[in-house]
Amino acid sequence: MPQRPDLRVRVGSLELANPILAASGTFGYGVEFAHLVDLSRLGGIVTKGLSAHPMAGAPPPRLAETASGMVNAVGLQNIGVRAFADEKLPALRSYRTPIIANVFGSSLREYLEVIELLEKVEGVAGYELNVSCPNTEGGGREFGIDPGVAAKLTGAARDATKRPLWVKLSPNVTDIAAIAKAAEQAGADALTVANTYPAMVVDIRSRHSRLGRLSGGLSGPAIKPITLKLVYDVCQAVRIPVIGLGGIETAEDVFEYLVAGATAVQVGTAHFADPRASQRLVEGIEEVAKKINVNSISSLTASLRL
Ligand SMILES: Cc1cc2nc3c(=O)[nH]c(=O)nc-3n(C[C@H](O)[C@H](O)[C@H](O)COP(=O)(O)O)c2cc1C
Repeated sequence: MPQRPDLRVRVGSLELANPILAASGTFGYGVEFAHLVDLSRLGGIVTKGLSAHPMAGAPPPRLAETASGMVNAVGLQNIGVRAFADEKLPALRSYRTPIIANVFGSSLREYLEVIELLEKVEGVAGYELNVSCPNTEGGGREFGIDPGVAAKLTGAARDATKRPLWVKLSPNVTDIAAIAKAAEQAGADALTVANTYPAMVVDIRSRHSRLGRLSGGLSGPAIKPITLKLVYDVCQAVRIPVIGLGGIETAEDVFEYLVAGATAVQVGTAHFADPRASQRLVEGIEEVAKKINVNSISSLTASLRL
């Protein structure tokens, strides 16, 4: 009998049973999927982005399908950190799966308010800062565009928690390695690469945007090769672990990200076609690992031959 491959990976101080996490904004707060997915099988769950106060989000329509992907303008709708802690976390605590709280705000203070509230409760394994948010104090420019601003935010979050701190980078920058290094130096434990790409979809009859807003973010298989390159570039620039995501649908996609340098991956848009996508991939990577004689998934990380 061939040995079962070891799927465990280590992201900083956090050991995950396998490298597959559900991505923010595509898997609710996790609990809503419990009747469809065995949440205990997942390497981790990243929550929908949480803000200090509830947000209603953008007007519909919020999703538009495109070639090999989709554009979304959800507008960061969420129930707010307090309701998350009161209504969602108690049920999530019954699973051993690490829960990563995705955090955002329109000012540094708002990010810290979310973290400070969650610091008082059990059941949060770590934080993922979404830096692809307009900074109202910084003229509306995203936090993740300028290395100095990204470092200031990461440093302030670092001072607020001893829990694992991940920074989720924007792909919409000229030099992602510079932002990655700034976040690493400011105390990030890992980097998530990357968020969606600014995009538009137009209805030629009405000549309106096909979304409730002028533009949104492109995700899905269309972005996979582009983000894979960003993951490679970031892995060359930093020593901390990198979590790759963008367009993952198959076990082979997961392996590509690992070989390019990622320690773990997240699955996003694939949940819209198949809510069980992340669990299916946990099973899928085990099968592929057996086929190609990989005994330990972690041995794939940064194994690209040049
Ligand atoms: C509908 C939707 C909502 C999202 N909401 C968030 C969010 O709240 N916070 C965040 O950091 N990323 C959010 N994202 C980005 C995803 O987590 C992911 O980075 C991106 O979609 C690329 O991965 P994918 O191609 O596997 O979907 C969202 C994506 C989608 C499609």
